[in-house]
Amino acid sequence: MRDFDERNITLAAIDRYKNSPNPRLNRIMTSLVQHLHDFVRDVQLTEKEWGQAIDFLTRTGKLCTDKRQEFILLSDTLGVSMLVDAINHRFAKGITETTVLGPFYLQDPPEEPLGADIHGEAKGEPLYIDGSVRSEGGTPVPNAIVDVWHSDAEGFYDVQLPDFAAPTLRARFHTDAQGRFRFWTILPRCYPIPCDGTVGEMLKASARDPYRPAHVHFMIMADGHEKLVTHLFVNGDQYLDSDAVFAVKNSLIRDFTQEAPGVAPDGRKMETPWRSLHSDFVLAKAAAKKTA
Ligand code: BEZ
Ligand code: FE
Repeated sequence: MRDFDERNITLAAIDRYKNSPNPRLNRIMTSLVQHLHDFVRDVQLTEKEWGQAIDFLTRTGKLCTDKRQEFILLSDTLGVSMLVDAINHRFAKGITETTVLGPFYLQDPPEEPLGADIHGEAKGEPLYIDGSVRSEGGTPVPNAIVDVWHSDAEGFYDVQLPDFAAPTLRARFHTDAQGRFRFWTILPRCYPIPCDGTVGEMLKASARDPYRPAHVHFMIMADGHEKLVTHLFVNGDQYLDSDAVFAVKNSLIRDFTQEAPGVAPDGRKMETPWRSLHSDFVLAKAAAKKTA
């Protein structure tokens, strides 16, 4: 076939996938072509804009290394990451909700004993976090892996600091026989997502706010259960309704309670005010995931 025009080219491009041996790839490619062509027609894309888009994507790719993933950040800020997350975690009510992983997770974080203080050299308001990991139905999950990581009191992760040498404000714990965990750290702060690349350009050009509300990240893994990737957000944070990556869910907002000097739950004597956060997590059983 020849003489393609703006009306018949879409069906012709879709038709090129008709012999695909992979039905899933066929479904994805035909839908992608359809939506991409509809988008180009909808906005009546100019050649200059097409060139700018190619340049933007090229520069986004060039920013990606084993330490930086600008395409995932783009997906996060377009709401695509949270859409994929929602489609893939349709769990029953009562199971802890998921949210984005973000770029600051490090594989194999330092293993720490329960009760450890992970603040290292970072300064800030002391924060005691404790809670439990349970299976749907309420059974405690012993020996679950609980990875935590968060920003410092100025909104920076350890890996963003110029003198980053050793991991701080991140650790791996294992729950005890009753499924409980506890540790000390400092109160995190809200922060802007990395804005020195193409995603930052896109946000700035669109007058979009780059901030994320203060939160602590959790990744919890246990045999026979779905991996849980989530955050707990600080109640009252000014960015809860404008998170740059659309990751806030009401069920994940917690009071990081202000406590007066005195004796903390683990017996530590506190001479200054401190915060406490209690949270129980409920994991979906591996087979419980809905596919609908
Ligand atoms: C984070 O919470 O660490 C994060 C998530 C998505 C994009 C940027 C940062
Ligand atoms: Fe974060």
